[in-house]
Amino acid sequence: MTSNDVEPDGGSTAMRVIAIDGPAGAGKSTVGREVARRLGLEYLDTGAMYRAVAFAALRRGVSVSDEQSVAELAREMRLSVSEHEVIVDDVDATTEIRGRAVTEAVSAVAANPAVRDELRGRQRAWAREHGGGVIEGRDIGTVVFPDADLKLYITASPRERAERRVREIGGDVADVEWSITERDRRDMNRLDGPLRADAGAVVVDTTGLTIGEVVDHIVAMLPAHTSDAL
Ligand code: DC
Repeated sequence: MTSNDVEPDGGSTAMRVIAIDGPAGAGKSTVGREVARRLGLEYLDTGAMYRAVAFAALRRGVSVSDEQSVAELAREMRLSVSEHEVIVDDVDATTEIRGRAVTEAVSAVAANPAVRDELRGRQRAWAREHGGGVIEGRDIGTVVFPDADLKLYITASPRERAERRVREIGGDVADVEWSITERDRRDMNRLDGPLRADAGAVVVDTTGLTIGEVVDHIVAMLPAHTSDAL
């Protein structure tokens, strides 16, 4: 086991958690990584964990609609997530988890309550092992770390999110905007851990802002929201 393994256990130490939630394509990952770097904290992308379960299901020929088998797989798989790579049962899944097949399968995996339960346990264990960190997802401030030192809800208009994605990977802006809106709808309407801003979250709308401007804004708000330790 390496220090990046996300296993369902872990020791307990004092920890500082910055929770980042928000819809797909709002810039959470880029902002989260940079905030972590500026504060000297570790960073965890929990979306990569849901993608890793979808990857494992596709690789083993398990249908993502077979809730019980996917849940079993989530409990049994070895999963290591670091900033630069995702390893599933010794297979490097870093590139494939961003591909079309996994992206299409992941919503069904993320709607599976038993998978969510398992991955939330691994996320809490990761935080205990790393003394906290910047943790990014959809339900981090609302469910996984309700006592986080700072909760952020990072968003941007669907059109801007689509334009950013098209700049990165190509495609048609209108099509991408439609699929982003569709994914938001599924994430917001699922019963377990629906995407929403926690009452205690600071909403950061990144529309029209550069990454640097967003990161500066977040780092500047820290003393008001966190203990002196940060
Ligand atoms: O952020 P992303 O696109 O890599 O997330 C992949 C999927 O996992 C997406 O459907 C949202 C879901 N997800 C979730 O339900 N809860 C999280 N904490 C993180 C991601």
